Amino acid sequence: MKEINSKISGFYKLPIEERQKIIADQLRLNEDELDLLKKYGYFKPEQLDTMIENVIGSYQLPLGIACNFKINGNDYLIPMVIEEPSVVAAASNAARIARKHGGFQSDKVKSVMISQIQITNLEKMDEAEKKILSNKQKILEIANQQDPLLIKLGGGAIDIEIRKFNTNFGNMLIVHLLVDVLDAMGANVVNTMAEALTCYLEDLTNGKILLRIVSNLATHRLARSTATFDKELLGGDEVVDAILNAYEFARVDPYRAATHNKGIMNGIIALTLATGNDTRAIESGAHAYASLKGQYSPLTIYHKDENGNLVGEIELPLALGIIGGMTKIHPMAKLALKILNTRDTEELCQVTAALGLAQNLAALRALASEGIQKGHMALHSRNIAKLAGVPDHLVEEVANILVKDKKIRIDYAKEILEKLNDKNSP
Ligand code: MEV
Repeated sequence: MKEINSKISGFYKLPIEERQKIIADQLRLNEDELDLLKKYGYFKPEQLDTMIENVIGSYQLPLGIACNFKINGNDYLIPMVIEEPSVVAAASNAARIARKHGGFQSDKVKSVMISQIQITNLEKMDEAEKKILSNKQKILEIANQQDPLLIKLGGGAIDIEIRKFNTNFGNMLIVHLLVDVLDAMGANVVNTMAEALTCYLEDLTNGKILLRIVSNLATHRLARSTATFDKELLGGDEVVDAILNAYEFARVDPYRAATHNKGIMNGIIALTLATGNDTRAIESGAHAYASLKGQYSPLTIYHKDENGNLVGEIELPLALGIIGGMTKIHPMAKLALKILNTRDTEELCQVTAALGLAQNLAALRALASEGIQKGHMALHSRNIAKLAGVPDHLVEEVANILVKDKKIRIDYAKEILEKLNDKNSP
């Protein structure tokens, strides 16, 4: 057992190479491992060092392209960053099936974010509420002074909402400041606006303000997309009914709905990550929205049209941006946005929602017919073959045998490799 000391004083102040050395010493990393830490890819080490704290390296994932997508009449090549095999292929396949009936139709998406301001210590909540509502214009004015550029471009604080709670800490009045953040994800701007309102709202209400922070449950930023999936291309009436049955399972059972929505997020997060957006914000918003009606529910719905085709629809909050955050700093995120070729954040959200729907349909179709493992395992078997040390030129052959014999295991891959080597040796 190696002795680890995690209390490293001033670690954040050290140059990257020294941090690497400390970790390498403590963990007794070998030359190759240390070299791997020094492979920064398309980043300069200084760039990484300013992105987060205590950097010791950079971490890569595959970037793939989902094909066949037609959304609101336009074709898209969708960049996806994900480690899981089959996801990109599944999305492309579902998009191909949707194409026959015109592809996906995605609604307009507003870029309105919510900032929450928590007012406590209020003796009379109703009175405070009245005062806030009658001074709405002043509140919006103070908020809008914080970002003149946003106002110039047509965005800014547009409205307020009030929510009231009785809590274990007494009454709590929450002001929602609604801000049109245009092409940004918007957390920074709405947080700044909310903080700037502290003194004014405390004076107005005689209360004490505590938290001022964006809500990731962005219910004013809902993205919706729908598509008709062709009955024949899906595999016929039986498959359509099986998918509807699978959907019903998710509708009634949160244990299934969680996995159903995980499949949706496979697509949505892959594009969110590719474009340098905040994946955690999108995840938390999606799952909170899924539980908003009391029971955790699927983010998609399905029904059959008059011709027996399957119609799917997705709705979820999508707080994405094409400016700010990582989107313009990360070289590959910039390139991914270029590949996606969307003109603004609204279009990015429309594509993302369609991708989520495609991903869900593909998973339901596989689960309700042949099962998910077949496709998964074909790809997985190649990874297993590589892990077993199979040389590149034999990977395909060994992987096929693993799948055929239904034994996708490293030990079996080694056994097959030995047999192949014996057979090929003179
Ligand atoms: C796997 O990453 C995603 C699925 O489990 C989704 C689902 O079950 O709907 C296949």
